[in-house]
Amino acid sequence: MDKIRIRGGKPLNGQIAISGAKNAALPLMAACLLTDETLTLTNAPRLVDIATMGNLLAQHGAEVRREDPPEGGAVRGGELHLTARTITSTTAPYDLVRKMRASVLVLGPLLAREGKARVSLPGGCAIGTRPVDLHINGLTQMGAKIDLVGGYIEAEAPGGLHGASIVFPMVSVGATENLLMAAALAKGDSELINAAREPEVSDLAHCLVAMGAEIEGIGSDRLRVRGRDRLSGTRHAIVSDRIEAGTYAMAAAITGGKLELLHTRLDLIQAVTKVLERAGVEFSETADGVMVSRANGELLGVDVMTEPFPGFPTDLQAQMMALMCTARGAAMITETIFENRFMHVPELARMGANITVHQSSALVRGVEKLTGAPVMATDLRASVSLVLAGLVAGGDTELNRVYHLDRGYDRLEAKLAACGAEIERLRDGD
Ligand code: EPZ
Repeated sequence: MDKIRIRGGKPLNGQIAISGAKNAALPLMAACLLTDETLTLTNAPRLVDIATMGNLLAQHGAEVRREDPPEGGAVRGGELHLTARTITSTTAPYDLVRKMRASVLVLGPLLAREGKARVSLPGGCAIGTRPVDLHINGLTQMGAKIDLVGGYIEAEAPGGLHGASIVFPMVSVGATENLLMAAALAKGDSELINAAREPEVSDLAHCLVAMGAEIEGIGSDRLRVRGRDRLSGTRHAIVSDRIEAGTYAMAAAITGGKLELLHTRLDLIQAVTKVLERAGVEFSETADGVMVSRANGELLGVDVMTEPFPGFPTDLQAQMMALMCTARGAAMITETIFENRFMHVPELARMGANITVHQSSALVRGVEKLTGAPVMATDLRASVSLVLAGLVAGGDTELNRVYHLDRGYDRLEAKLAACGAEIERLRDGD
């Protein structure tokens, strides 16, 4: 298995192009199942999860074609051309779903278009149990008959789905997306109350509107959808990845450097900039992005709690913790979204961090310096937090299980190396 080796201590300076968001791309790809015309997605990041979703869609009968700009030029995403002229299978098998939980996003579209779907239950994962009850309950309210049989969600709506007023008892990004897609092709009006407001949900909603759906309240926690008989194809640019932008903002901050993050916007990463500014990091808008620096001054410990958008994202909690490891003073980091998302703590501790976990909070006491070590992590964001720690640590850090990073960060080593990081990938067998 590949490894990444980092020699820490170099401040990062330069520009990093932010890719299209993985967590927007995955539901957008699933939306191709709602129409027999071609859905073209531009600004598509090069990620293993995107390929996995492509394989799943192909398995349902969609034609999946990807075009990438030539390597070496400005780092821009590719184009995905997705055409589900006919659905040849309504089963999402265990082997694909277990690789990526977001596979469950085909449930709503398949059920709405074909009146049936059989989707493997995703099961738990490294960060928590992550049930899909909200997806199932919502679709049931829209007229689906759903049974759980042999590890599969077996759903049927022979007469089609009908509109419903659905109140989510808690905010769920995936359930909002699944039901939004289902409602777009259901009979009658639907209302999604206490819906997730993440920019990736809004990106999906805008794309659905371009496909002919009628949706009001985009960006709010109350989405009103008027169902359509059919939707058409469109061309849509995937929104920029705010988690990737936040991660590189923290890379600039942890190394005391200055980075221009291209193709992103301050309003997308506001929850992060507010917290980082308190920690002594500066942000300003540029013509095509955001400048972030910690040129002068030290990093200060600040408390942070993860929350649904517009709060501080759980997907940046591990990176924030790495940042706080060398800050002056202490930082209390509280995770409210997932019950087991502190897997990076013992690995950061192996690099010299001083962190005490009590239930859903971690108290990070800043230390003078971190030292490089062989480390590994069990999920994407935990892995990248170790990369951040490695960038500032003395000596070499060797990160194992790099496949987690490849699921969600488009050409991470190349982007960091271009800004002065000493980072290289050791291919299996090197
Ligand atoms: C999305 O996951 C993201 N994934 C996650 O990104 C992200 O961490 C998460 O939203 C929260 O922001 C994609 O967009 C593909 P949820 P999702 O449903 O939709 C509970 C990353 O690193 N819940 O909003 O699965 C659930 O267990 C990742 O890129 C239920 O109880 O998250 C969790 O505690 C990982 N029942 C909370 O809600 C349900 O039916 C929020 O989960 C659904 C969710």
